Amino acid sequence: MFSASTYINRRQQLASSVASGLIFLPGNREAPMNYTDNTYPFRQDSNFRYFAGHNLPDLALTIDAASGASRLWGNDISLDHVVWMGEQPSVAELAKAIGAERGGNLAELSDLLKKQAKEVLFLPPYRAERKTFLKEHLASQLPSELGVGAGASEELVRAVIALRSIKSSEELEQMDIAVRTSMKMHAAAKAHAAPGQLEAEVAGLIEGIAISGNGRLSYPAIVTRNGHVLHNHYHGNTLQKGDLLLIDAGAEAPSGYAGDITRTFSVGAPMTTKQQDIYDIVQKALTDCTAALRPGVSYLSIHLDAGRIITAGLKNLGLMKGDIDEAVAAGAHALFMPHGLGHMIGLDVHDMEDLGEDLVGYDDKVRRSTQFGTRSLRLGRELQAGFVLTVEPGIYFIPALIDQWKADGTCADFINFDALDAYRDFGGIRLEDNVAVTETGYRVLG
Ligand code: GLY
Ligand code: MN
Ligand code: MN
Repeated sequence: MFSASTYINRRQQLASSVASGLIFLPGNREAPMNYTDNTYPFRQDSNFRYFAGHNLPDLALTIDAASGASRLWGNDISLDHVVWMGEQPSVAELAKAIGAERGGNLAELSDLLKKQAKEVLFLPPYRAERKTFLKEHLASQLPSELGVGAGASEELVRAVIALRSIKSSEELEQMDIAVRTSMKMHAAAKAHAAPGQLEAEVAGLIEGIAISGNGRLSYPAIVTRNGHVLHNHYHGNTLQKGDLLLIDAGAEAPSGYAGDITRTFSVGAPMTTKQQDIYDIVQKALTDCTAALRPGVSYLSIHLDAGRIITAGLKNLGLMKGDIDEAVAAGAHALFMPHGLGHMIGLDVHDMEDLGEDLVGYDDKVRRSTQFGTRSLRLGRELQAGFVLTVEPGIYFIPALIDQWKADGTCADFINFDALDAYRDFGGIRLEDNVAVTETGYRVLG
């Protein structure tokens, strides 16, 4: 946790950017796996943690926007709980640690929310129990979906995004910790992976290192010889000599900040020329796109730079053809990189995605594309010093997508479909770093 002054400042800034109302920031509850006391690992709500610091369940924060008064609400534990959980700090002590007042217990919070329902401002809920709670407390007039424009406060969402988007130096230190642990995971995986192992053995090694760092994985790890399946969490394949193993795995620092790193290497053998050629294109996209990061440049334009680098490289190998700019304008590169170049990262691996991708990643100047591939770019807007984002170019050979485009003649002027036959079992390569935008350029974290 940071010192109380960090949380006091954050809450003051939040209150001063919201006109009026009672800002309600509930923490997360435990989530049972199969019965109440056997829970999934607890993950605090990132907005609560940003403004209230504590990584404990069953707490809530309220901030009066007009006065700035902040109250931490929760139940003090009974002697019965002490027997099972040991001594715990009182809610008053927890409140003091973050420079807030002690609110009441959770029943008193319930009463307050019901009484002031019309003034309560909340963020879009992402857990079913939170939706139920809001509906019970903030009245039946709320619609069934509770996102922005439907109950949740857009004013509050925008104020939180403005604060959380700019990382302070103490946050960057935490993100360096997360990335350093993530890099250890990748180094160990590369040293350990060998033909005959299950992907799961590598996945287990990685997760152990995240836990040894006194944190955990910041998202379920991708450890796969089928790197062309983008979100592939299956770990049951046996590694073969010469397989490309794609590992997308990051650790969460004890403070909750995330790392999100991808590396791809060949198992038990040097890369073949064919593998290395594709790798080199992805590496160039990573290096050049990272070097282009600075305030004022839109990330959409850097995403399109990646498209041009990939198109130029694949044209060189005879897999694409035609004018590079025209190919990228037509979206031809998306056959090989159907995802975006990256996203904001912070307390969440896809930072603030609960608040709405377009509000986080786009604005009036830069609108989200509707084109296949580029429409999946989560961050498009102009960069500012203090943003932290991922740069994650990739090249994948997805047989079903290739077949569909070939049958439809999609971007046929730019793709040598016949030459792709030799790549149907290639898999995919992605490389991903986490980078802070500075006043003058960028700094690769870790
Ligand atoms: N690990 C998820 C992502 O790279 O966005
Ligand atoms: Mn990733
Ligand atoms: Mn990522």
